[in-house]
Amino acid sequence: MRRKMDFKEQAANKIIGEIKGLKSIQTPAYVCDLAALRRNLSIAQEIKARTGAKIMLATKAFSQFSVFPYMKEVLDGTTASGLYEARLGHEHFGGEVHAYSPAFDEREIEALLPIITHLYFNSVSQMYRFLPRVKTARPGIKIGLRVNPQISLVKNSALYDPSAPNSRFGVKKADLTDEIMAQIDILHFHNLCENPVEDSEALIGHLTQNFGPYLERIAHVNLGGGHYFTAPGYDLERFVTALKCFKERFACELTLEPGGALVYDAGYLVTRVLDIFEADNENMAVLDTSASAHMPDVLEVPYRPSLRGGGIAGEKPHTYRLGGRTCMTGDVIGVYSFDEPLAIGDMLIFTDMAQYTMVKNTNFNGVPLPDIGILHESGRYEMVRKFGYEDFAGRLS
Ligand SMILES: Cc1ncc(COP(=O)(O)O)c(C=O)c1O
Repeated sequence: MRRKMDFKEQAANKIIGEIKGLKSIQTPAYVCDLAALRRNLSIAQEIKARTGAKIMLATKAFSQFSVFPYMKEVLDGTTASGLYEARLGHEHFGGEVHAYSPAFDEREIEALLPIITHLYFNSVSQMYRFLPRVKTARPGIKIGLRVNPQISLVKNSALYDPSAPNSRFGVKKADLTDEIMAQIDILHFHNLCENPVEDSEALIGHLTQNFGPYLERIAHVNLGGGHYFTAPGYDLERFVTALKCFKERFACELTLEPGGALVYDAGYLVTRVLDIFEADNENMAVLDTSASAHMPDVLEVPYRPSLRGGGIAGEKPHTYRLGGRTCMTGDVIGVYSFDEPLAIGDMLIFTDMAQYTMVKNTNFNGVPLPDIGILHESGRYEMVRKFGYEDFAGRLS
């Protein structure tokens, strides 16, 4: 049953879990928190300084290029999963531009060649197909081959485990011949996703034990992403020690290509309540955002995003199911509780919304895309980009 909201209630808009600087911004909006980003970057800087590893930003996780100037002060470049990411890295970040894809086509390779510094193949067949052209056009380019180390360390979702059965990622050890090794400069192992240090150690231990002869003859190893070194409680000492031992043991150059860890908890999705009513004896709040269109990992992983000032169901006196504004029944962000009742117009702030959000969003249902902004360290909000009807229609005919 619809609960009538009186005008006074609407006018007294609350900001749940207020953040200085975001009080009166237009919503929905993705906001990169520069102070939090810099905190993550300082951890990356420490890893680089203590291990000698290079660190690339995996732009699949985060491509808000308006903050690339801050990121490139520390990072060595970007790693792309597709042509457009490579171009973005080349044009807006600079430094090294790595590219990997489960499969390239000829046109992509031609477009990539002038702008990348490192090219990784996923299979031996792709490597043999494109190597002659690549070596002729760009003799200096570094060639990597993705190897599937066949150790499952991503436990929360098979969707994100590159070593899952029937995975299409990487060449298996049994297929790694001398002839193949002679063609490549880099062995590439990406096998983690939001993993704690124990799993980075397990991966490194597994590689040391099982790939020793290959690692001894290769000059460069890329240990991929998924090392979650900015997460609370992460033991940086252990990570640094594991990387240093590996690097010294195999006398190799080392690259990491994290995405999530570099922007962990460095962004918000700021939204407002559009409607409140009761459904099946539950309080329902519909927001001006959407799990499906604006934070698809909430449904895909799935996971329950953190919300400032929001508890789990029943933890605080007022519990609401927070729904998105698309037509999909499952477009629900989760059930949250609050100290006070919600009202139409109240502002809510989801956290850890920099990674895998902007890069994956859609205009499904013709729902507008959130603004993109920056919260500067001074507390000043800078709106960087607004989207309109043209962004929606432009993709459709
Ligand atoms: C090849 C490769 N490198 C790096 C990454 C970045 O991973 P993360 O964001 O978990 O650090 C991914 C993520 O899927 C990937 O597939």
